[in-house]
Amino acid sequence: MSLGTLTEHADELFVAKYVNSSAHFAPDLPTLESSLRSFSRMDEAREALAALGGRASCLIQGYTAPQNVEALRRRLSEAGVARADVVAVDLLDLPRIYDRLGVGIPDVDFLQGDACDLSALIADAVFDIVIQDFTLNCLPPVLAPKLSREAQRVLKADGFAMVSFTDATGLRERPVLPATNALLRHGVEWTSTLTGLMDAAESGSHFDELSAGLMGATLAAGARGELIFVTPPSGRFEFFAPADSTFEMLRHAGFHCVAFDRSIGIDPAGLQCARYRCLLRPI
Ligand SMILES: C[S@@+](CC[C@H](N)C(=O)[O-])C[C@H]1O[C@@H](n2cnc3c(N)ncnc32)[C@H](O)[C@@H]1O
Repeated sequence: MSLGTLTEHADELFVAKYVNSSAHFAPDLPTLESSLRSFSRMDEAREALAALGGRASCLIQGYTAPQNVEALRRRLSEAGVARADVVAVDLLDLPRIYDRLGVGIPDVDFLQGDACDLSALIADAVFDIVIQDFTLNCLPPVLAPKLSREAQRVLKADGFAMVSFTDATGLRERPVLPATNALLRHGVEWTSTLTGLMDAAESGSHFDELSAGLMGATLAAGARGELIFVTPPSGRFEFFAPADSTFEMLRHAGFHCVAFDRSIGIDPAGLQCARYRCLLRPI
C-alpha cells in the first residue's frame, strides 16, 4: 500500500473510533460530551456559561467526534445561550472522512488547517469560548505552547477556555524506550514534530517494519518527562506530559486556571489515565 493510502486509512480509522455506527467505535474514549458533563459539575464553569447571555461565539481547536457540536449546543442552551456560532478547526478533512464513514455533516463551520496558527483567517479577540478537548494529546508537546497562545489570542478578554487533557500517569508503569534510539534502529532520525509512524515511514514496507517494531510501544522524548504511546492499529502517536508541566505551559501561554476537575479513566488500549478538565481565563 502507498504511504498516502496508509495515512488516509489511519485517519479514517482514528475518526471511526468516535463514530457510534462504526465497527471501530470505542465508547470509552473521552469526547467533548463527557468533558461538558465534567464542566457542568464545576460552579465556576456554570457561572461562566450563565454570564454569556443569549449568544456565544465558540472555537473548537481539534474536533473529531461528529456529535460534539450537538452536545455543545445542548449544554449552551441549558445555560440560556440560545444562539451559538461554532467554528471547528482540524488538520483532518473531517467532512470528507464523515462522508466516507456514512455520517451526516454536523452543523458547524469547519476549517481544515493548523489550529496553532489561524492568524490568516481569524482576528484577535473574537470568541467567547475556545475549546481544546484532548487536542494536547494529539499534538507534539513542542507545539503545545503555540496552540495555547493561539487560543489566548482569539479569545475575548472576558472569554474563557475549556481545555481537557490526559497526563502521563498510565504510561509510567510501562517499559519506556528512548524515542531517538527506538526510531534509529529503523533508520529514522527522531524529530520532535513527528505525529505517528506514517510521518516516519519512507514507504509502505518501511511502515510495516516500523509497525512490527514499535506498535503499542511507549517512547520517551522531551526534557519534561513527556511520553508517547504508539497507538494500535494506526501507529498514530498520543502525547502525554506530566500535568504540572501542562499547567505551567498554559500559564506561560497567558492563561489563569480558574478551576479544574481530575478523574481517572481507562482508555481503549487499557491505559489508566488521569483526565483533567480545566476552566481557563486569559490573564
Ligand atoms: C483527541 S482528538 C479530539 C477528540 C475529542 N475529545 C472529541 O470529542 O472528538 C484531537 C483532534 O485534534 C486534531 N488536531 C491535532 N493537532 C491539530 C492541529 N495542530 N490543528 C488542528 N487540529 C489538530 C486531530 O486531528 C484530532 O482530530
